[in-house]
Amino acid sequence: TWTTTNVVEEQVALIREQVGDRRAICGLSGGVDSAVAAALVQKAIGSQLTCVYVDHGLMRKGETEQVEKDFVAATGAKLVVVDAEKRFLDALAGVSDPEQKRKIIGREFIRVFEQAQLEILQEEGPEVAFLVQGTLYPDVVESGGGTGTANIKSHHNVGGLPDDIEFQLVEPLRQLFKDEVRMVGQELGLPEEIVQRQPFPGPGLGIRIVGDVTKERLDLLREADAIAREELTAAGLDRDIWQCPVVLLADVRSVGVQGDGRTYGHPIVLRPVSSEDAMTADWSRLPYETLAKISTRITNEVADVNRVVLDVTSKPPGTIEWE
Ligand code: XMP
Repeated sequence: TWTTTNVVEEQVALIREQVGDRRAICGLSGGVDSAVAAALVQKAIGSQLTCVYVDHGLMRKGETEQVEKDFVAATGAKLVVVDAEKRFLDALAGVSDPEQKRKIIGREFIRVFEQAQLEILQEEGPEVAFLVQGTLYPDVVESGGGTGTANIKSHHNVGGLPDDIEFQLVEPLRQLFKDEVRMVGQELGLPEEIVQRQPFPGPGLGIRIVGDVTKERLDLLREADAIAREELTAAGLDRDIWQCPVVLLADVRSVGVQGDGRTYGHPIVLRPVSSEDAMTADWSRLPYETLAKISTRITNEVADVNRVVLDVTSKPPGTIEWE
């Protein structure tokens, strides 16, 4: 019979058998899948696992701390945090095209992660041979079912390592659907905020700023986003909403009035959607009082924002994200 306890026990045994006394690395993204995969492997092999979190500076308020503190507290995992904010912001400077942003963020991410892997290999010894991934059953089906290996090349000037390192993949979630992964995460004692986290794109807030990405704009958007999330949670709406992108129209200004002065600030877009699988979506009919509260708070508390607008477009024709 399928129970989370059985799944955990079975996977722990399989991971122990696969990894033996060697070592593994797991990249954490802040999302549910990588957190649960890491927690399972941690339960199986303890300090033979090293987790890596690349902080690209594009996360929402509190999310990096959630990984650094809450995930570590719940699992006891060994965690390496790479602060790469400056590197990502430099690479993104002046770029406003969405696909270009994605390409840059993806490229930098791989470079930073590989560099971290190499440093761990150097420290822990080359018997680090396993890479943990939070692949789910739907990903397995989509990609044709193969399991495999991953390569990194040591072109980063870290001496004393073979030119090419091949990792074997550990994928303890391969038989699970998303809701099952959440249940397993709960069983493993991960915090609610991690286990119930709504979808959030890998490129983070980088693709929620229409215009180019700067630290100031990110900070502003982080504040607005935190207010929206706080009020949606307070209103008990998290389970009704698939996700709610909060978008900064950085290249748009409109006239407003605040106190006794004219303002010329940016709009923030709220994009709450309901969906089953993100392939199609409808805009969420949120209570007016909640919308009013979010709007009042954002315009009062976030400097340079003088308007909050609601996106009432379904997908299709709109996508969930604005970029
Ligand atoms: P769209 O905007 O295409 O989004 O309707 C569908 C779902 O995918 C997420 N999304 C991304 N996730 N990298 C990701 O990891 C991306 O570049 C990306 N773009 C969109 C989006 O948040 C939604 O859940």
